[in-house]
Amino acid sequence: MANSLYLATTEAKTGKSLISLGIIELILRKTTNVGFFRPIIDDSIDHKSDQHLNLILSHFHLNQNYENSYGLLYSEVSNLLGHQRLDEILEIIITKYKKLEKNCDFILCEGSDYLRENSAFEFDINAKIAKNLGCSILILGNGYKKSLEEAIAPIEIAVDTYLEKGCKIIGIIINKADKHQINFLKDALEKDYKNTDYLLSIIPYDKKLGSPRIREIAQQLNAKILYGRDRLDNLVFDYLVAAMQMQNAITQFTENCLVVTPADRGDMIIGTLQAHQSTNYPNLAGILLTTEYQLEQSIARLISGLTEPLPILWVNSYTYPTASDLKAVYSTLIPEDKEKIHWSIDLFDQFVNLTILEKQITTIEIQGITPKMFTYNLMQKAKLQKRHIVLPEGNEPRILKAAEVLLSRDIVKLTLLGQKQDLERTIQSHNIQLDINQLNIINPRENEKFNDYIQTFYYLRKHKGATLETAHDCMMDVSYFGTMMVHKGDADGMVSGAIHTTGNTIRPALQIIKTKPGISLVSSIFFMCLNNNVLVYGDCAVNPNPNGEELAEIAITSGETAKMFGIAPKVALLSYSSGDSGQGEEVEKVRKAAQIAQKRRRDLDIEGPIQYDAAIDPQVAAQKMPNSKVAGQATVFIFPDLNTGNNTYKAVQRATGAIAIGPILQGLKKPVNDLSRGCSVGDIINTVVITAIQSQIH
Ligand code: ACO
Repeated sequence: MANSLYLATTEAKTGKSLISLGIIELILRKTTNVGFFRPIIDDSIDHKSDQHLNLILSHFHLNQNYENSYGLLYSEVSNLLGHQRLDEILEIIITKYKKLEKNCDFILCEGSDYLRENSAFEFDINAKIAKNLGCSILILGNGYKKSLEEAIAPIEIAVDTYLEKGCKIIGIIINKADKHQINFLKDALEKDYKNTDYLLSIIPYDKKLGSPRIREIAQQLNAKILYGRDRLDNLVFDYLVAAMQMQNAITQFTENCLVVTPADRGDMIIGTLQAHQSTNYPNLAGILLTTEYQLEQSIARLISGLTEPLPILWVNSYTYPTASDLKAVYSTLIPEDKEKIHWSIDLFDQFVNLTILEKQITTIEIQGITPKMFTYNLMQKAKLQKRHIVLPEGNEPRILKAAEVLLSRDIVKLTLLGQKQDLERTIQSHNIQLDINQLNIINPRENEKFNDYIQTFYYLRKHKGATLETAHDCMMDVSYFGTMMVHKGDADGMVSGAIHTTGNTIRPALQIIKTKPGISLVSSIFFMCLNNNVLVYGDCAVNPNPNGEELAEIAITSGETAKMFGIAPKVALLSYSSGDSGQGEEVEKVRKAAQIAQKRRRDLDIEGPIQYDAAIDPQVAAQKMPNSKVAGQATVFIFPDLNTGNNTYKAVQRATGAIAIGPILQGLKKPVNDLSRGCSVGDIINTVVITAIQSQIH
């Protein structure tokens, strides 16, 4: 039987999706066999539109389809209840749950939404369902705009009622609490439930999560998008009806505010756009034009010529009814909004006591290392000893977005290279939630260490023909400057390559930082995060055609890197032959490499030559290499050359949807890592975290 948990709320709009995201993320760090079940879903629009189901199934790619993920539709429940057929309701829900349970180690059941009038009935039926499914209950209360008493009273009633009905409660979370009330709420819960082992956690209201995006406002008001289509993700914290004169209105502008003004107020529109550009006024979210007037041609022409205008929406209604419509706009978590999903999971991780929660809900045995566990462990490891990483491509929006996440999670200290004004403009135009004052920004040529770095480079490279002039040119290049910061101990590691080639990124490190003592070669690995396992592939990015000696060194270093990141190394040197089955120059190279590596490191399990299928599949291994300690259980795969390695990692990534973290450089005295130019914000975060960990160990 699966472990399970029933998330039961005290009322509507408690922010259940945040809790479900957090719990499933937590369990996926232990097992990939996680299920999500909703006993009853709303079908007021249609039966396929349950937003929570769509969010969770799609974000986590759970191995279940929509139809198997719920018990009954709300309309079906009402109908059955109308005919006094409560038992049938429970039977159907239990049957569907049991079917799902067969394939899961853990199921999270999310209770009903309390969106209809009959909330007493919902309370009752949620308790009956939880009891019949054998789930423990986590009670979720709502602290939004409530006094202490208003927030606590519904919780007390819920606890008493669920206990009366014989349910097992494992904890209470109050979500959306006023941040000034967190301690009072916590104290009140701890006093009420001092004789229990309940998890008691309070999550504060987060303005970013509660705020709609411009896109949602446009959809819900049926507004026409006139400008700024690529800025529709801007968050709207507040709105301002700008009926006053422009010089007065701009003094009222607040961060991420939506300015509402009639379409014939050209002065206000231009003033708002200017205020957004100015560093003396806050970043704005957009402009909402009202009334039936068209935008004046001269104004429209001016806006069309701007490079990155704010989003400008238009509704054909008067300003005050529009303002009242705006008040009713709501924000929902959708699978495409990865940013809000990550903020939600972060908030959950930060404010819920995960150790107690985990203890209360799971007895799952950990087998191998799941991708979630791997990335989670990385974050935790990086936080243990905070390191300083330099990001030379400071003005790249993806780098700034990654910096936002890394700084808000307090994982590393960052220095970004570039001009402060440029970075400020990019932050503003991409609406990145990053306070420029949190950032350490260095413009290389204005930095006091610039000349010292030139001298150092000249000293290091003069035997290779460097002159002071070429050293100066090199230090103007951000990759060289960032690398020199690491070399001189002014940063602990560097991550670059979002806009530079692999060669541009790593050549400075090869020239300046050089290899560790006892290592002659810099090589690379990828962490391949597959569905339920993390493998190491090397070298898929640096050395085009290593000889036998070099391949042996790559195998040993890759095994060491695997170990450094918690993966037990079983190293397979790949070829088109397993054992003695084939011959040829390429096979001999791999055979020689395996022999050298085995001789140098008797403590490591190393096998080669071996084919990929024999390395990974125990059944093939049993036939082809029955006596091998690596065959069938390899975790580190070493490719014979760059052609094979680079194409294989990309093929596996494309064919399986695996996340490839890397290339991670190994063998350097201090860590420098390369990004692929197509990298996502998540890739940058992972690479920075890995670089920080490498620097802890160097
Ligand atoms: N380990 C240690 N040092 C090295 C290495 C290495 N693997 N390769 C070169 N060096 C050193 C050299 O000894 C030399 O040092 P020196 O100047 O002090 O004598 C310096 O680096 C420059 O060497 P070059 O031979 O001039 O090498 P170059 O700069 O031309 O290229 C590079 C090095 C960039 C790593 C090259 O091998 C390369 O382009 N590799 C392939 C990169 C690539 O395109 N990968 C695939 C794409 S990445 C992806 O898909 C994610």
